[in-house]
Amino acid sequence: MTTVAPAASSAGTDVVAWHHRHLIDVDVLTWPEIELIMRTTEQMKGILARPIRKVPALNGRRVTTLFYEASTRTRVSFESAARNLSADVVSVAPATSSVTKGESLVDTIRTLEALGAEILVMRHSVSGAPYLAAEIFSGHVLNGGDGWHAHPTQALLDLYTMRENVPGGDLRGKKVAIVGDILHSRVARSNIWSLTAAGADLWLCGPATLLRGMDRWAAEWSSGKVPGHGRFNVTSDIGAALKDADVVMGLRIQRERMQGGLLPSLREYAARFQLNAERLSLAKPDAIVMHPGPMNEGVEIAPDIATSGRSVILDQVSNGVAVRMALLYLLAGSHDEAHTTEPGR
Ligand code: NCD
Repeated sequence: MTTVAPAASSAGTDVVAWHHRHLIDVDVLTWPEIELIMRTTEQMKGILARPIRKVPALNGRRVTTLFYEASTRTRVSFESAARNLSADVVSVAPATSSVTKGESLVDTIRTLEALGAEILVMRHSVSGAPYLAAEIFSGHVLNGGDGWHAHPTQALLDLYTMRENVPGGDLRGKKVAIVGDILHSRVARSNIWSLTAAGADLWLCGPATLLRGMDRWAAEWSSGKVPGHGRFNVTSDIGAALKDADVVMGLRIQRERMQGGLLPSLREYAARFQLNAERLSLAKPDAIVMHPGPMNEGVEIAPDIATSGRSVILDQVSNGVAVRMALLYLLAGSHDEAHTTEPGR
């Protein structure tokens, strides 16, 4: 595997073998593997700080993005990440592909593979679609979000951004409040895995109708059925969720996934749950504000908060490129016996 960064910087850290062929959710990652992704991301950030932000690590490798749902930051950052590593990038937009002529997901993937795809980055409205893709695709599948299920790269870039901003870079005991439409959020589901592994004091907050099913998850986490992961809290009391929080993350109300009847109105949601200056005064004075985007300013977050000095929302976007470079690098090397998994060596 090609060296992508100058030597050193990994002194004192354990070398962890990377053996995942695909990344469909963070639930398959051990904590040392998450740490490896974080260290690799750090090195990718080093590359992004150079005048020429391009290295030959994935030279000649073919990355195809196949997004069945709308996306700005996830797709563009995957494509930038792949180009920064010198991969060839093909971008398929189902709306202008043979999908509109009735071609199935399976046929589409087989066709893309026949056209040379080696790494497939996909987003799909059906939860679990990437598992089907992984069964039939002989290369690597990276999930860019499937239905309500998972959004692993978002959770990893969120984790990286939080660690970058909390003193000492350690989330153990740090209070993280995620507020909004938890029910429809693949971002929240993936974040539950990574943040409880990181030892954060996690709080999920929203109207009761948008927290459905979360009590059952929380009970499983509390009962120790998920080894290595701490418990988390579920509440509709925004005051309790925000009090003394170190990190506050807003989530979009996903109207496109609502069957109706879950919310009286957006105005009512905003009145009770919007992240605004008054509510954020409950959090720690140096608390950071996050949002995976796209934001509906004036609904889940007040515009002045989204652009305030506490907001690290654009850092999330730029860290997304580095995290995705790290994952492409690790996955592309996972069939290579000589791959040490330490790009700094
Ligand atoms: C999210 C997604 O698509 O799951 N956005 C993202 O990828 N940055 C969240 C959302 O759509 O609200």
